[in-house]
Amino acid sequence: MQMIFSKKITVRPLFEKESSTYTYLIYDNETLDAIIIDPVKETLQRDVNLITELGLKLQWILETHIHADHITSAFDLHTKFGATIGLSNHAIVDCVQAKCLNDGEEIQVSNDLAFKFIETPGHTNCSACILIDNFLFSGDTLLIRGCGRTDFQQGSNESLFKSVREKLFTLGDETIVLPGHNYKGEFFSTIGEEKSFNPRLKMDNSFEQFAEIMDNLKLAAPKKIDIALAGNKYCGREQV
Ligand SMILES: [Fe+2]
Repeated sequence: MQMIFSKKITVRPLFEKESSTYTYLIYDNETLDAIIIDPVKETLQRDVNLITELGLKLQWILETHIHADHITSAFDLHTKFGATIGLSNHAIVDCVQAKCLNDGEEIQVSNDLAFKFIETPGHTNCSACILIDNFLFSGDTLLIRGCGRTDFQQGSNESLFKSVREKLFTLGDETIVLPGHNYKGEFFSTIGEEKSFNPRLKMDNSFEQFAEIMDNLKLAAPKKIDIALAGNKYCGREQV
């Protein structure tokens, strides 16, 4: 698995193969303050080991939305490292450890590490993307040559189209897009590439063309949807 460096921060993609989910660990190279995005229960131990081995100080556990395909390890990571769980204020969770973040909110984590929380409803009503430097962690809003489905969890074609066109596609073309999933073994894209080549959302497509594609996907429900939504309501905390 590759690592993506800038002078000041490291972005480390991690993969969970059952749900094809990317978890991202981002840290300040000097202070080792760290953020993890979309951690998965199945790979909790791997992530704990890595954070410990690298001596990282985990400050934030961010969720791009309430996931329907896997259970988050946010609560376990919070318990282990004391980091704050952050998610959209539109996410309905029963988790006092979670801090709700607002659209456009910018949080300075260390001298060289800050993130901007960008609400991008559409895949779900609580979907968001995280911008760190030139890296956009796009969750299930914008995938490489695709996007998240819009047919459950208050999904909306209108909202997703608007979120991508008005918020994500107004970022610089060189912005690196790091998605929440990939099913073909690809790691990243750029905003410029997606504006030109995303078959659903490229600038040449009208909303009507986008909606027609989305309305005809005929996807099966995720295998774990019932247990995932139930577990993620508590940020992955085991219920006894
Ligand atoms: Fe999702």
